[in-house]
Amino acid sequence: MAQTVEANGARIPLVGLGTWDLRGRTCARMVEQAIGLGYRHIDTASMYGNEAAVGEGLRASGVPRDEVFITTKVWQSDLRAKDFERSTRDSLAKLKLPSVDLLLIHWPNPSIPLQETIGALCKMKREGLARHIGVSNFTVALVEEAVKLANEPLVNNQIECHPYLDQGKVIAACRERGLSVTAYSPIARGRVGGDAVLSRIGKAHGKTAAQVCLRYLVQQHIVAIPRTSRPQRLKENFDVFDFKLSPAEMKAIAALAHPRGRIVEWSGTPDWN
Ligand SMILES: NC(=O)c1ccc[n+]([C@@H]2O[C@H](COP(=O)([O-])OP(=O)(O)OC[C@H]3O[C@@H](n4cnc5c(N)ncnc54)[C@H](OP(=O)(O)O)[C@@H]3O)[C@@H](O)[C@H]2O)c1
Repeated sequence: MAQTVEANGARIPLVGLGTWDLRGRTCARMVEQAIGLGYRHIDTASMYGNEAAVGEGLRASGVPRDEVFITTKVWQSDLRAKDFERSTRDSLAKLKLPSVDLLLIHWPNPSIPLQETIGALCKMKREGLARHIGVSNFTVALVEEAVKLANEPLVNNQIECHPYLDQGKVIAACRERGLSVTAYSPIARGRVGGDAVLSRIGKAHGKTAAQVCLRYLVQQHIVAIPRTSRPQRLKENFDVFDFKLSPAEMKAIAALAHPRGRIVEWSGTPDWN
């Protein structure tokens, strides 16, 4: 299967490296090794405090800049137009890049008009600071509103997504409007490791539970950005393109979803559907 997804003009690699919590030399080394192993997508954010290290790892990899898809995000407290632009420019200075491939609003902020933030986001694309733009942690209603307000195409909504959480409604809303979906916490912060259903399915394919989980996402053209601090897991998390889950296996994995499956809670988002 293709290792990328296309959305409103963007082509996004389906597996990327998540970097939340990776810092300094560890972060730079993991980014460099991931790219060496074939990863072509790195996910960072202003809030992670690791953009300089991500940039270092990217340069150390020796892979040309235009072959790696770099995403960063503007934090919730910086959603006023002026702050948004400053945050974006700071991110680029830390990454030592003239532009990122994807710039996201990290979390919605109900106390700042979305129109102002979306205006600033679109401006960053028009000025060439971001090749593509999108959102993160946006509900169905917020996706609809954002698309109406934007005068540049939005290409992605990054949301918590893994087998324990049914995100069907927001995924459908994104797709109707041409946005792709990126799954954050795609292996449920490591919880899928010991899952009996995923392990059983994995055994039949010679794969681990985490690989089955990631395959379940990418087989639905959902981008997955698993994070690891262990070099040996980089390869495991990337090796998901050489097997296929059957419709019955996909169904069994979807049945793992339950109402308390969400890991990342945010009090300002009352209705996810
Ligand atoms: N937009 C947002 O609001 C938002 C929110 C959360 C996360 N994110 C992004 O999404 C990325 C991924 O999400 P996440 O970091 O929350 O969680 P995750 O990727 O689902 O899980 C990471 C955890 O799983 C473990 N792990 C990694 N590979 C494994 C494997 N093959 N088998 C078993 N365990 C494994 C890691 O431990 P080891 O380090 O020991 O391997 C780590 O503790 C973040 O790094 C960040 O880039 C975005």
